[in-house]
Amino acid sequence: MHLADLPTPQVLIDRPRLFSNIDRVQQLASSAGVALRPHAKTHKSPAVAKWQIEKGAVGICCAKLGEAEVFVEAGINNIRLPYPVNPFSAARLIALMDRATLSIIVDHLEVARGWSDAMRRAGRALDVLVKVDVGFHRCGIDPASGALGFLQAVAAMPGLRLRGLLSHAGHGYHAASEDELRSVAARETETLTALRDRATKAGISLDEISVGATPTLRFSAGQAGITELRPGNYVYFDRTQVALGAATLDDCALTVLATVVSKPAADRIILDCGSKTLTNDQARGITKATGYGAVVVDHRGDGAAPRRVDETLTIERLSEEHATVRVTGATALEPGDRVRVLPNHSCVVSNLVDVVRLVEGDRVVDTLPIAARGKIT
Ligand SMILES: Cc1ncc(COP(=O)(O)O)c(C=O)c1O
Repeated sequence: MHLADLPTPQVLIDRPRLFSNIDRVQQLASSAGVALRPHAKTHKSPAVAKWQIEKGAVGICCAKLGEAEVFVEAGINNIRLPYPVNPFSAARLIALMDRATLSIIVDHLEVARGWSDAMRRAGRALDVLVKVDVGFHRCGIDPASGALGFLQAVAAMPGLRLRGLLSHAGHGYHAASEDELRSVAARETETLTALRDRATKAGISLDEISVGATPTLRFSAGQAGITELRPGNYVYFDRTQVALGAATLDDCALTVLATVVSKPAADRIILDCGSKTLTNDQARGITKATGYGAVVVDHRGDGAAPRRVDETLTIERLSEEHATVRVTGATALEPGDRVRVLPNHSCVVSNLVDVVRLVEGDRVVDTLPIAARGKIT
């Protein structure tokens, strides 16, 4: 099948770019001697997870149990949930433990106790990592206050096996420079290794130090002490990662194929990919990226010509099914013409579609179901 045969909008995954991202980041992790455990939040696809594992990933991460259930059903048997899963869901997690190696994070004593009690009642023990807040200020214990006491309490809980420390430097997405990103990564490692050393002195052994975020990945990989990397977005990348210097335009595997459906004025065209496809996420980054995505020119589709952004087109407004594009100067685009849009945030885009099309150039080579999409419990 050819791209021209597909109705639009369609989410396209460029297979050579996808495979090259999987290979490159696996090599980065392997050459640093650390485990790679990709976060499946970006692709939500068992097929992509299997390609990552075939290349050397030790397993995957999911946020929600519903996602883990889909991946276990598809045969993935090593899953970490770096999300504060509540013991309300203990029965579902215990059911999965018969079929896969599972681990979760804890960052709250009562929640940890709830898990320990549930595991004891089931005659089990659950691997946990303590989530540490390294500056994102979302989840995680404060490493500067009461952290050792927290680790001691968790280590003493009979239904838990304390494996290590885990963090997510999501504040890297707000870095204003490459240097700031580098120092976010450096401080993350320092915080975690310092806490591990204090724990070791107190007789608590922590075998794992797990970090993971695509913007800081390139700086974290070689740092002493880290045992695991958990990037997610790297598999597709997106416009935000380009603006953060984590990827080039040519690395980006996910684009949206859209059709010009109206040209109400010479300086305005309408595309058929609105917020239901691109989402309202803004791009962040060191370089400026305005609007809701970039129209990329990828004419030859053979990878030989570098991609470029069509700077004359700005996606300045989204309705659910319309993207309103401001034209600077003139455009030859007319209703019926097709464009490729690089979204600001690829993870949220794949969550919105039942299938993505794997493409090579302008050829559709496969259709992948996004089996774990929408699994929010
Ligand atoms: C806990 C956790 N780990 C890893 C990741 C992967 O980060 P990224 O998508 O920047 O690679 C995320 C992303 O949200 C996350 O929340």
